[in-house]
Amino acid sequence: MRTKHKVIFGNCMSMEEIPDKMCHLMITSPPYFNAPFDYDGFFKNYDSFLGMLEKFATETYRVLQDGRIAVINIDDMLVDGTKYPIIADTIKIFQKVGFRYRDKITWKKPDGYLRISKRSGVILQNPYPMYYYPDNLLESIIIFQKGKFDYRSIPEQVRELSKIDKKEFQDNKWYMTLWEITNVLPSSSLEKGIAAFPEEIPYRLIKLFSYKGEIVLDPFLGSGTTMKVAKNLGRHSIGFEIIRDLENVIRKKTGFTDLVYSENSDIFEVIERKEGKYRYVNNETLEKITLKNKK
Ligand SMILES: C[S@@+](CC[C@H](N)C(=O)[O-])C[C@H]1O[C@@H](n2cnc3c(N)ncnc32)[C@H](O)[C@@H]1O
Repeated sequence: MRTKHKVIFGNCMSMEEIPDKMCHLMITSPPYFNAPFDYDGFFKNYDSFLGMLEKFATETYRVLQDGRIAVINIDDMLVDGTKYPIIADTIKIFQKVGFRYRDKITWKKPDGYLRISKRSGVILQNPYPMYYYPDNLLESIIIFQKGKFDYRSIPEQVRELSKIDKKEFQDNKWYMTLWEITNVLPSSSLEKGIAAFPEEIPYRLIKLFSYKGEIVLDPFLGSGTTMKVAKNLGRHSIGFEIIRDLENVIRKKTGFTDLVYSENSDIFEVIERKEGKYRYVNNETLEKITLKNKK
């Protein structure tokens, strides 16, 4: 089956390009509150960060079909010695806009794969009480649902095509609330400075919470990890990204580097919001332009 993938370069505080109830699953990791690299200074204060989360939650609720799932990879954040309760506040915000809080998975990174590993070193420099800040190996994957899912709404054939491999499920311990997954190193070439999550996260979630041919949304697309996995698993996808320059990274990651369109290839579209107008490009129209120029 040919799948379709659309990147909208614009702010996901409004997802106006997506009609109500169009998407079947939302997976994302929002920007960090005062992240050390890319977003430093992006949010004026914690309230503006929470305001961003609420707008994104409201739009996600609008574009998701009834009964469907929204998943957020997020973590509490330590800034200048104060830990911000981002997980608890995100849960409250998502409940406020109408979601049911359904579950929480803890993602554990392997020892030695720490992104910010220097915290506990403070006590080695000063081996006295009150200098303790532990290294963080954990992030949360919080799962919300919009109402109740109607299991009878899925045609039998689609249900069978989307069947979960019980061996994979059991061997990799998907059944637990602890997922041990290696993180993406910040230095890896494609994801440099993006804080990408590993493919294994959207891989499990897409298999567990969507059927083949459905639409997966990632409002904070980054390097395009969710889109790549959705494509590999026979799902359509839509992503928002505010940094226009990431198009090449997303194309590389998703395998849409080739501008030539063929009958069987998956479809990649780019929408760029510009002064209220849209420039619309997909690989089909691009080829038409190329052919026209050749004549
Ligand atoms: C943590 S990264 C997501 C990484 C992604 N999961 C991956 O694997 O590459 C968050 C992304 O959201 C983008 N972003 C931040 N605010 C945004 C907004 N309001 N609308 C759309 N994208 C936004 C950032 O530019 C960044 O690329």
